[in-house]
Amino acid sequence: MTMTTDQSKSVAAVILLAAGSGTRMKSHTSKLLHTIAGRSLLSWAVTAAQGVAPEKLVVVVGHQRDQVEAHLHDIAPDALTAVQDQPLGTGHAVAAGLDVLGAIDGEIVVTYGDVPMLTGETLRRLVNHHRQSANAVTVMTAVVDDPSGYGRILRSGDDILGIVEHRDADNAQRAINEINSGIYVFDAAVLRDGLAHLTPNNDQGQLYLTDVLAHARSRGQRIGAYVETDIWQTEGVNDRVQLAAMAAEMNQRILTRLMLDGVTIIDPKTCWVEADVSFGIDVELWPGTILRGATSIADGAIIGPDTRLVDVEVGAGASVIRSEATLAVIGEGAQVGPFSFIRPGTQLGANGKIGAFVEAKNAVIGDGSKVPHLTYCGDATIGEGVNVGAGTIFANYDSVHKHHTSVGDRSFIGSDSVIVAPVTIGDDAFVAAGSVIVNDVPGGDLAVARGRQRNIAEWVEGHRVKLANPTDSPTLPTPTASPDGSSTINATASTPKE
Ligand code: UD1
Ligand code: CA
Repeated sequence: MTMTTDQSKSVAAVILLAAGSGTRMKSHTSKLLHTIAGRSLLSWAVTAAQGVAPEKLVVVVGHQRDQVEAHLHDIAPDALTAVQDQPLGTGHAVAAGLDVLGAIDGEIVVTYGDVPMLTGETLRRLVNHHRQSANAVTVMTAVVDDPSGYGRILRSGDDILGIVEHRDADNAQRAINEINSGIYVFDAAVLRDGLAHLTPNNDQGQLYLTDVLAHARSRGQRIGAYVETDIWQTEGVNDRVQLAAMAAEMNQRILTRLMLDGVTIIDPKTCWVEADVSFGIDVELWPGTILRGATSIADGAIIGPDTRLVDVEVGAGASVIRSEATLAVIGEGAQVGPFSFIRPGTQLGANGKIGAFVEAKNAVIGDGSKVPHLTYCGDATIGEGVNVGAGTIFANYDSVHKHHTSVGDRSFIGSDSVIVAPVTIGDDAFVAAGSVIVNDVPGGDLAVARGRQRNIAEWVEGHRVKLANPTDSPTLPTPTASPDGSSTINATASTPKE
């Protein structure tokens, strides 16, 4: 989707209503900050508004306005805000927005902050329709199965007579199933005049923006409707049931677009992909895949089943199976999983491997290096072509500080080693299995840091004889440690031969 900067597409202003209370969300967080596909409802609404290239965008805030304004500053720093202190109705809210815009001519689009599926393209079609029909006001409408709660469109053929709210409507009007989306284009002067004439003469005692239409018509202005057939684009989110339904629909639309763009999705029912995730072609997503944030997946990568990636860059041809990763880079042709846990700051080089039951954090692992099994690899820089044996622990924490470990190219860390940071292991070094490494290991050296093995010949048979005849031997041989760390067996009548 490209945003046009063509002047002919631009409108004078968009007023985005976002002052409502959103009580049905039952949340400490403003409704507009709840997310669908990784973006807030407000962010979706602002993106749609930007699709008509408004010279000014004003967001009307009120309820939980501190949260809304702070978030707006992040997503649209140029947007203006208008404060509606009390929710006295949609007309009152638009008047607050118009105040901030001052003396303005031309087209003013009004839309809501809680209608996340609306696209900039649809708003452009609304504006084009408004222009082609030479209307003073154009309302976006939709024909729905269940219109209850919505304002109903009163029309005689193409002639729009006005809008009546559900609670103010009679039975005949309630039978109308063309509803007001709440999205409009107004000529600024017509809007200003209409707002000046609003009265709270309705069931809620509020100032209704919808009343501007009948007023403008009574002044001889041309009022039109633009019927949107994709009704999801006209629907607002009021509670978490609607939030979930809309998120599911948005997700299916994202997946459909991805499949059409060359991504294989084995089971679209169980994959969730947020709006800002990007893909090459021939990527395969297996069931249970969740891709979030600024994740990118290059050509031919295989993700899933049962994998969640948040802000992760996956290189071409890599595979990530049954794993969890955040803020990490996985190189071309690399293999991750099953059951890997990759935490922020991890970078796995090309053709590298992070395997089963491996946790990595802030670990830079070079090309072709492998950490295949049962390892904790935290705060480490590992060169190229390194093999880290099963069960290795990079002990990075001394109970106060975190320390760093370096491992040079082509080194080999034997299984079940503990590398106690800070420590530097050179290139082509070798750490014997089961070592506890507390000192640096020069390149090319072998480090052995464990008790030496000693075999006691034919010990087992004598031991069993003693166990079978306990009265013959009240004292069983027991190992004890000697100061050099080797073990000895207590001398008894049955001391085995060595
Ligand atoms: C409104 C329309 C109705 C339409 C429906 C579509 C009016 C009188 N009615 O009804 O015809 O079918 O939207 O969803 O316009 N808001 C403010 N300040 C206020 C009141 C509302 O900012 O004082 C904002 C809300 O945050 C929300 C939007 O305006 O984003 C709509 O308000 P809401 O109370 O949901 O209007 P409805 O009663 O649903
Ligand atoms: Ca509503």
